[in-house]
Amino acid sequence: LNYLTPKTQQEILDFLITGLKRLEYRGYDSAGVGVDGCDTNAHIELIRQQGPVDLLKEKIEGMKESLQFDQVRDVHVGIAHTRWATHGVPSEVNSHPQTSDDTNKFIVVHNGIITNHDAIKTFLKTKGYKFISETDTEVIAKLIHHVHEQNPNVNFRELVEKAIRQLEGAFACCFKSSVFPGECVAARRGSPLLVAIKSQFELNADYVPVQYSAEDPNQNMKFHSHGTESPVVQRKKSTAFRVDSGKGSTSQISPCNPGDPVEYFFSSDASAVVERTNRVIYLEDDDVAAVKKGVLSIHRISRSLDDEPNETVLREILKLTTEIQEIMKGSYSSFMQKEIFEQPESVVNTMRGRICQQTKVVTLGGIKDFIPEISRCRRLMLLGCGTSYHSALASRQLLEELTELPVMVELASDFLDRYTPIFRDDVCFFISQSGETADTLNALRYCKKRGALIVGVTNTVGSSISRETHCGIHINAGPEIGVASTKAYTSQILSLAMFGLVMARDRISAQKRCTEIINELGRLPELIQKVLQQDQKILEIAKKLYEKRSLLIMGRGYNFATCLEGALKVKELTYMHSEGIQSGELKHGPLALVDSTVPIVMIITRDQVYEKCLNALAQVIARGGNPVLICQEGDKEILARAKDDMFIEVPASVDALQSILTVIPFQLLSYHLAVLRGCNVDCPRNLAKSVTVE
Ligand code: G6P
Repeated sequence: LNYLTPKTQQEILDFLITGLKRLEYRGYDSAGVGVDGCDTNAHIELIRQQGPVDLLKEKIEGMKESLQFDQVRDVHVGIAHTRWATHGVPSEVNSHPQTSDDTNKFIVVHNGIITNHDAIKTFLKTKGYKFISETDTEVIAKLIHHVHEQNPNVNFRELVEKAIRQLEGAFACCFKSSVFPGECVAARRGSPLLVAIKSQFELNADYVPVQYSAEDPNQNMKFHSHGTESPVVQRKKSTAFRVDSGKGSTSQISPCNPGDPVEYFFSSDASAVVERTNRVIYLEDDDVAAVKKGVLSIHRISRSLDDEPNETVLREILKLTTEIQEIMKGSYSSFMQKEIFEQPESVVNTMRGRICQQTKVVTLGGIKDFIPEISRCRRLMLLGCGTSYHSALASRQLLEELTELPVMVELASDFLDRYTPIFRDDVCFFISQSGETADTLNALRYCKKRGALIVGVTNTVGSSISRETHCGIHINAGPEIGVASTKAYTSQILSLAMFGLVMARDRISAQKRCTEIINELGRLPELIQKVLQQDQKILEIAKKLYEKRSLLIMGRGYNFATCLEGALKVKELTYMHSEGIQSGELKHGPLALVDSTVPIVMIITRDQVYEKCLNALAQVIARGGNPVLICQEGDKEILARAKDDMFIEVPASVDALQSILTVIPFQLLSYHLAVLRGCNVDCPRNLAKSVTVE
């Protein structure tokens, strides 16, 4: 939303398309924009297109002449969306913005799922509304239209509030209306949303105190089903896991001098705005942010369980540190390739300021005040989805050893399906690159309600998970754009290893082991670099495998997580079947798959399970298998068994860190396999980077 900086529609469209390109990793089935039309009567122009953002861009180019996007205006509002289909196939009509009627009186873009859309649709149909898309989002556009018809004198923000009070499920929405030209209203519940502010001029404050909107006295439509809430255990949050505070507050944000130009952006995440501004406010659930005449205000439609009674709730304007280069590909062919090769630096950033090699002391500022409480807990639970779940598996053995506590590792979705018992003396870690994954966030809220201590391990400062946890560790790997997670995985394992080291600090018997690991952490960037030097060799192996239908990956002990993560990378990027197999389980079933034709990779490193892995290798060879072998540099025993150069050597490290090195060949292998198979590396079909729906 652009206020008092004269621009043409074309410039606004360019803003929106660049923003969408940056957000494309969140979904890429279809895209659309809604902007002010060129006539004077506030008409809204909707342009939508199935497929990636580039196709939408082409469509807009083609319409330039007929729509005359070159007229200059002082105030513009445009909204745009890139979709990852949940309800309804990817198609133009199902793309967002969704609209209220033929004249586009109200349009909306939405991220999330409205679970009571059927009930709302049935109601609106009785009022004569006709639905043309298969989306749940269309009900929001029609609902606000209906609310407006019922309340013609109510302002835009209050209309949005009335409408979203009726919604169940998850949403981050942005509304534009021809009835309220030059205004924009956005609201969230369950899906991420931020407001970014660009102005060369001083703003009048650093905080916005949130104003509570009055309950709606005549809610004649009700589609909700309210569950009962159990009391929440209040704990003081670690301030170090949040971002520091600044100067003063005011009820509205605007430039100090009314009339100074200002631009506002609403976005699901910061990558869409970092090239415009670094000033952002992360909105909370049930916040409604409105911009009118260059002024931003934030209201809430309900009090959060986390809000302290009688305390003024503030939304702080934060300064982002992300630089535009971090979200550009540079000379790499894909974000994934760039992120794989960034790992020597990303691990340094994860360790920066946290490990002192002289004193061998590890400090984690975002968690340190809670270490005594964690030491007294009944068990540690590690929860996550996808790659983040695998990082938990990769870390379990070391955490069991260093904390001497029972450690449970859970897939967030399965954990919720089971209504797993959780108690006040449990410590639950929520591991998430994005900090927004719906299953992980729901599991977090479930555990928080039951009184557990909630710890976040995230890569996204300001994300929902980092805000809703009591304390945590920012992994600081830098923005990860490729849908297949790579550098976040290695930094997650590293962060959890550092947590283990902090926990073992006062145990004399653990000192030798801790020192050994800390010394190796100092060498980690150089060791990762050595693995990356194998890239050409891995490409040659990929050339031998890329036409196969399946790939089995075997290992055990510290390397089992690498097998699962390697198989996930191969599946998501190449669409080949791939399975991670615990070598100890071979004889209980998977051995039946082995013959001379099935491609197999086996990881065998010199740790406590080395002999057992050699047994597994013998069993595979005895069935005619010709596995690719991943071993430590110069391991003659293994190299002697490798045929046709089908081996990858990784530098030897301490057992607990070895999986950080053994996973990298799989990142490179899956990347090369995907390229050779002609797959889109950064945007694998049917997937999205940040899955904010269940
Ligand atoms: C999606 C992504 C995966 C990621 C998983 C968990 O499935 O495609 O790469 O591992 O979500 O995401 P999170 O952001 O919670 O780590």
